[in-house]
Amino acid sequence: MKKDKLYVRQKKTLADFNFGEKTAQVFDDMLDRSIPLYRELQRMIGEMASEFVAPNTSIYDLGCSTGITLSTLMQAVSQDVKFVGVDSSEAMLDQCRGKMKKFENKRPLKLICADLNKGCAIQNASVVVLNLTLQFIRPLCRDKLIQSIYQGLREKGCLIVVEKVLGNDSLFNRMFIKFYYDFKKKNGYTDMEIAQKREALENVLIPYRVDENAALLRKNGFSQVDVFFKWYNFCGILGVK
Ligand SMILES: C[S@@+](CC[C@H](N)C(=O)[O-])C[C@H]1O[C@@H](n2cnc3c(N)ncnc32)[C@H](O)[C@@H]1O
Repeated sequence: MKKDKLYVRQKKTLADFNFGEKTAQVFDDMLDRSIPLYRELQRMIGEMASEFVAPNTSIYDLGCSTGITLSTLMQAVSQDVKFVGVDSSEAMLDQCRGKMKKFENKRPLKLICADLNKGCAIQNASVVVLNLTLQFIRPLCRDKLIQSIYQGLREKGCLIVVEKVLGNDSLFNRMFIKFYYDFKKKNGYTDMEIAQKREALENVLIPYRVDENAALLRKNGFSQVDVFFKWYNFCGILGVK
């Protein structure tokens, strides 16, 4: 796994964070060192997917990146289902194709390069995953995306959402972010790397509060919604149709 050194050197001008080639090459390391309990989240996503999956349906991973979650889902689910990965970055999808080779001819998979800001044509889905993706969708487009997911899910199908979130109060928010940066330091990121990445993400990653994310699901029809994971400024929400 190639080490994430994207922000090791001080940059004269800091461009917005993007999911291009350079990011894609180091993305798996970035996830492991930047997302608290990333591997436990993977285990939980697999576990929940195996509860809600129905035979002869599809499982969608929206914002599939390099395919870690798709691999998890393929191993967690034994039923006869189709897997669909969607991402707007060709560089990420290239990495994903590499990771998917070991499942070739075993699990049917379609990888689609598309912009989720325009919604997504979901069909006959029993499970849809948005793992750390909704936060990158323009706020004005989130409603439409959740609506299209709801419409494409079968009855009793589920949507699994994991997001970076804002605290309910600026006191908690500051404290959660401080603990989060401590976590990144423990994983080998320097103060400069943390500061530059934070600035690069400023206009790109737009977090909501937990209750705002839950309300987005309820408003679009999800009848059962609950938080399944919370770590300071990260949360996981499960919605069932
Ligand atoms: C933080 S990563 C998601 C991580 C991944 N889901 C996982 O399970 O590890 C966000 C992904 O969303 C993709 N993305 C961002 N904006 C997008 C958009 N508008 N349409 C489709 N994909 C998008 C990025 O290319 C990136 O691969």
